[in-house]
Amino acid sequence: MNPPTVDVHLDADYFAEALRADVREGLAASAKFLPPKWFYDAAGSELFEAITGLPEYYPTRAEREILAAHADDVARTTGAHTLVELGSGSSEKTRLLLDALTAYGTLRQFVPLDVSESALREATRRIAGDYRNLMVHGVVGDFTEHLDLLPGGTPRLIAFLGGTVGNFMPPERAKLLAMIRDACGSDGWLLLGTDLIKDPATLLAAYDDAAGVTARFNRNLLQVLNRELGADFDVDAFEHVAAWDEDNAWIEMRLRAMRRMTVRIPLVDMDVHLADGEQIRTEISAKFRPEQIMTELTDSGFDTRHSWTDDLGRYVVTLARACD
Ligand code: SAH
Ligand code: TRP
Repeated sequence: MNPPTVDVHLDADYFAEALRADVREGLAASAKFLPPKWFYDAAGSELFEAITGLPEYYPTRAEREILAAHADDVARTTGAHTLVELGSGSSEKTRLLLDALTAYGTLRQFVPLDVSESALREATRRIAGDYRNLMVHGVVGDFTEHLDLLPGGTPRLIAFLGGTVGNFMPPERAKLLAMIRDACGSDGWLLLGTDLIKDPATLLAAYDDAAGVTARFNRNLLQVLNRELGADFDVDAFEHVAAWDEDNAWIEMRLRAMRRMTVRIPLVDMDVHLADGEQIRTEISAKFRPEQIMTELTDSGFDTRHSWTDDLGRYVVTLARACD
């Protein structure tokens, strides 16, 4: 067996500097916000895995159902030698693709990329243990910054699952898709997982579960700031809010201060004032119309070849070819 390798593009300095810049910008804004990538420290990655198993959180199950039904089509259509996965997390569903691509006989290398070093190391170790003839080359990095450092050469199949593309605002989403197009190379492929617009009650429950796991996941972001920046957020003084924004067609996750407070954040030298009831936006999760996904892919230089939904029509996985 080949031992897995892991490249780390987010060293401690880079990580600390990027977090500080994001906190300075987001918490000084008049409508406060924090970028979602900071959710995923070791505790956050574990909480996200717990979310994927919740009865209310249907996207993981819907996506798994689609991959189980169509991974063979992906293998036959792409004949990929290298599978890259962006925001790979545990890569559990990705095993369906690895199975199909190794059975088809073309796959040589798997390259998962994630900001979460703990999740990435655990996933590479497990996958390398179970797929003995596959080269597993993990990358700890930020997919908005490090796509030019991917190992393995082009053309590649890039999988971007879990609806993570929906966690970016439309202009950033367009930029990201264009960068992914370049990273695929000519004759490369993108396999994109996206959640669909549906009744608000179903959507809201997926982001505000009865057991409170999503609330813990959201509040963990403040724990990250306490630990990494010496902040003194009273985490229990914030409540989790999930709201459906009908006009923008996205779920918005927020943390709401339950009293007036001033938070000291020494490592960025900030005193952040929060009014009673003031909210910090921590995440959006955009939901799509099927035609819209195709249009956005076309606009970013892709040609949609297949799009598959689950039986209940909740979620779509699209296979698109990078155009010249
Ligand atoms: N693909 C998995 C995990 C989705 S959760 C699934 O479908 O279940 C989103 C994942 O993206 C997390 O593992 C998180 O650590 C990672 N992530 C978030 N922002 C990122 C960024 N900017 N660069 C790289 N990884 C990121
Ligand atoms: N990519 C996931 C999604 O949009 C991320 C996610 C799921 C998430 N549940 C969350 C992010 C709760 C923040 C809070 O579905």
